[in-house]
Amino acid sequence: MLTGNALRQSFLDYFVARHHTQVRSSSLVPENDPTLLFTNAGMVQFKSVFLGQERLPFTRATSAQKCLRISGKHNDLEAVGRDTYHHTFFEMLGNWSFGDYYKEEAIGWAWDLLTREWRLPKERLWTTVYLDDDEAERLWIKVAGIPTERILRFGQKENFWEMGETGPCGPCSEIHLDRGLEACDRKMVKGHRCLVNGDCARFIELWNLVFIQYNRNDQGSLQDLPAKHVDTGMGMERITAVLQGVLSNYDIDYMRDLIRTTEDLAAKKYGESAEQDLSFGVIADHARAVAFLIADGVVPSNEGRGYVLRRLLRRAARHGRPIGPPLQRRLGRRLDFEAPRAHHRLCLGAG
Ligand code: ALA
Repeated sequence: MLTGNALRQSFLDYFVARHHTQVRSSSLVPENDPTLLFTNAGMVQFKSVFLGQERLPFTRATSAQKCLRISGKHNDLEAVGRDTYHHTFFEMLGNWSFGDYYKEEAIGWAWDLLTREWRLPKERLWTTVYLDDDEAERLWIKVAGIPTERILRFGQKENFWEMGETGPCGPCSEIHLDRGLEACDRKMVKGHRCLVNGDCARFIELWNLVFIQYNRNDQGSLQDLPAKHVDTGMGMERITAVLQGVLSNYDIDYMRDLIRTTEDLAAKKYGESAEQDLSFGVIADHARAVAFLIADGVVPSNEGRGYVLRRLLRRAARHGRPIGPPLQRRLGRRLDFEAPRAHHRLCLGAG
């Protein structure tokens, strides 16, 4: 089995072999960027490069970036525990072009890595492009040979990526995998249909290729950037689940390690009921977020980032209840989970 660690390395090696410089993940606390509470994508550390304010000694980069999606424009907190493929904390595998290659290479390499190197079945892959992006559609046909019926067009919400209220942005093209009917978690819902960008777990977004060409300014309008760039991101936990042949991200090797630790502390075992498994999952997700936040210098407090951390701890502890008194007693007593509710609204904002 390809471990998560081996998969991360395989991604980075693929792009290093194509002349990308491997860059370390930046901190979860963005440097000099008051527009973001947390790093929510791999491109955050390159924002000033996209804006033309900074030049790096290379024009291609790749990284595995620690991300937290729990505030502002990208907030997946409520999905954690509702499904098995969204996280607060996750790693984003990405490759970037700073005014270097553009759509053709980005599409060609994404397809090659997924289908040749990692051997995903071509006939199960779908792509989406922005409403008027004829060029991307043409390239998916030319470079990847995808039939037009598996290339779908979507608007602003699905196929125009923005990091926040302001900043570099652009139309994007996504790759989705059809995991088959058995992956659908809404089969019993009357009238449900499995669709790309639908509401079930059958079609899963694997990789987002963003063609950065604008800056959204303070007034909310789009300005052309001095050059065109590529910004891609693939959720490492999702692709690991796919390559390890499991439907839930919590069943991948390094998540199961965390769940085993919780099992040692709890009165219940993972795999006994869907409701308990959900709690094991939330605890694993939040434990990672909390650990990496603390490693990046955030400490529990009553405001800002520290309050988010505190809220994650409280939420994880709440999920200790359904899996038994031992865990609840051991964790709950040591931590102070009480804090005014108003703070949470102030700090987290709308998703
Ligand atoms: N920045 C893009 C995303 O996060 C790749 O989806």
